[in-house]
Amino acid sequence: LKINKTVRKTRDFVEKMRETDKTVIFFYGSQTGTAEDYAARLAKEGTQRYNLKTMTADLEDYDMNLLDTLPADHLAVFVLATYGEGEPTDNAVDFWEHLVSGEDVPEFSVGDYEDSDKPLTNLSFVMFGLGNRTYEHYNSVCRRVDEKLQALGATRIGERGEGDDDGSLEEDFLSWKDDMWKATCDFLGIDFLAGNSGPRQATYKVQEHTAEEVEGLKKVYHGEHQEPKFMLGSRPTYDSKNPYAAPISVSRELFTTAADRHCLHMEVDITGSGITYQAGDHIAVWPVNAEQEVNKLATVLNLANKLDTVLTVSNTDPASTKLPFPVPTTYRTILRNYVDITAPPSRAFIGQLTPFAPTDAASKLFALWGQDKEAFRINVADARRSLGTVLEKILGVGQSMEIPFDLLIESIPRLQARYYSISSSAKAHPTSIHLTAVVLDYKPDVAPEETVYGLATNFLHNCHGHINQSGSIEPKYEISGPRGSHFVGETGVKVPVHVRHSNFKLPRNSALPIIMIGPGTGVAPFRGFIQDRAQDVKNGKKVGATVLFFGCRREDEDYLYKDEWPELMKDIEGAQVITAFSRQPGVPKTYVQHRMNEHKELIWDLIHKQGGYFYVCGDAKNMAREVNHKLIEIAMTCGEMSEEKATTYVKELRGRGRYEEDVWS
Ligand code: 2AM
Repeated sequence: LKINKTVRKTRDFVEKMRETDKTVIFFYGSQTGTAEDYAARLAKEGTQRYNLKTMTADLEDYDMNLLDTLPADHLAVFVLATYGEGEPTDNAVDFWEHLVSGEDVPEFSVGDYEDSDKPLTNLSFVMFGLGNRTYEHYNSVCRRVDEKLQALGATRIGERGEGDDDGSLEEDFLSWKDDMWKATCDFLGIDFLAGNSGPRQATYKVQEHTAEEVEGLKKVYHGEHQEPKFMLGSRPTYDSKNPYAAPISVSRELFTTAADRHCLHMEVDITGSGITYQAGDHIAVWPVNAEQEVNKLATVLNLANKLDTVLTVSNTDPASTKLPFPVPTTYRTILRNYVDITAPPSRAFIGQLTPFAPTDAASKLFALWGQDKEAFRINVADARRSLGTVLEKILGVGQSMEIPFDLLIESIPRLQARYYSISSSAKAHPTSIHLTAVVLDYKPDVAPEETVYGLATNFLHNCHGHINQSGSIEPKYEISGPRGSHFVGETGVKVPVHVRHSNFKLPRNSALPIIMIGPGTGVAPFRGFIQDRAQDVKNGKKVGATVLFFGCRREDEDYLYKDEWPELMKDIEGAQVITAFSRQPGVPKTYVQHRMNEHKELIWDLIHKQGGYFYVCGDAKNMAREVNHKLIEIAMTCGEMSEEKATTYVKELRGRGRYEEDVWS
């Protein structure tokens, strides 16, 4: 009973606000940390500029049934990301299920209202959504939460903001925020114009430890994330806050002749970890930053000679307990494992560095790139320059400057895991997870002489290179390849991972036919699906037609798993791969949707007549849209429907879960 009481108390945000004297709460639903970061920035700006009493709150940490008890003169701000196909982020799932996805009026804590349909008349709120326009359900989580809160009697006091991650999320946020502050000040009866822009107030305090103090420390963190959560005292659970360091059991190159393009097939061993998965789930890979980037940034920031100094970071506001990473730790670990130093820094951060510029020339550039959207776009955002590179460009190579380290921690996002579609089936491989990833590098249009390396895939590529050079997986501190080196710890090459469950799933009834459209690495989950169905056949189940449309450049270059398909499909009746080669010499450019057209009767038969399922994985922007359109065309031709009717038909397939997408941009 006692335990329950304390748990309930810490989950009561209204009580916490009362205890710590706060009036504005910023709830965030965050997957990759951006929404969390926005919430933190808002909370801080509110305190600093308008003297508001603010706090941030992870939706998962609090009991949202208490929304009806927030005093009417308090304000709730929701910063909510929409993930994938209109889903809430992991930390917002409970809130979402309670508030939106249920049929009835959700129950709140008091439960005794004058108008029982409107339990939230006490609640005033504003809202900003983070989404991506390439997805069909753009910002649907924030839109639906907004709708629902109002339907339950709550009042939105300002415009709802929406940011587009495919466009200019940061600019959308900045332009929404000013109006939001105006509305907030009006609501709280504060003079908006009196807002001060006094000196910066630090969010974090950084304290370096002496060698003597270090002796007395229980633990110094060197890349670990959260202390593992033990379920029922037995095994730790691995999730988006605590990855599992998985040994690599197999790693091979899948592109055969292409010298400068790489695609990795990697298998990580999950034996004994308790991790389970299903075909169609995602694996998150937690990368570390490349040593070059760590060293470059350390050099420009004059930190190179104290990278191994142990430090503790704490909150200046005693009411906030959340820290961006575990402490005590070292500068090196922070730059290597905990913060994202390769993502382009934000415009606001660059502007904030102006007063620390060592020269007039540098000061002008900080101010320009921090204020002028176009200058920022060309020199930072579209050039995909890391913080270290931006500082080098501004200061000149070999020059350095000092900035308060707490400002850096506050301003750059935490290093986040990257998600990949799992390319195996747990039925066939219960103790390993396979992933299939193209090693990413490109030359930005605005800076064609520079190369941008994808963080996680190049990290994996280095692991791959190391394993294959030495022939075995042996302990080594640093692994290196042509694209730089990575530190991987003292226990051999292990990849920190966790699994995110998805809705991209085979039909429950294996006898139903499936059609899979997966060009390029979009084929990954379908390898899992096909392994799954091959296993079903072995187990004596009836398995329906299994048709894969695969597209790549050339048959002899990037035809992924070419040699595996015949063996894998041999026992599944009606299983086939239909290929589309786009750069095969002597053959016209062909895409998967062209092949769909040639096989339209088959598709119509399997989908319409036999009640089959249709799956698409890969590029969201062009491929997935064109495939959707092609299916509408097929419904028009084969099903003799008008365009309108065919469009509705395909929409309904989606609505019934018979048209599933796992797409990215
Ligand atoms: P391309 O690069 O030669 O144009 C995997 O990347 C395969 O998908 C490649 O063969 C690529 O062809 C092809 N592809 C590119 N754009 C596409 C689109 N809009 N629809 C379908 N396939 C596409």
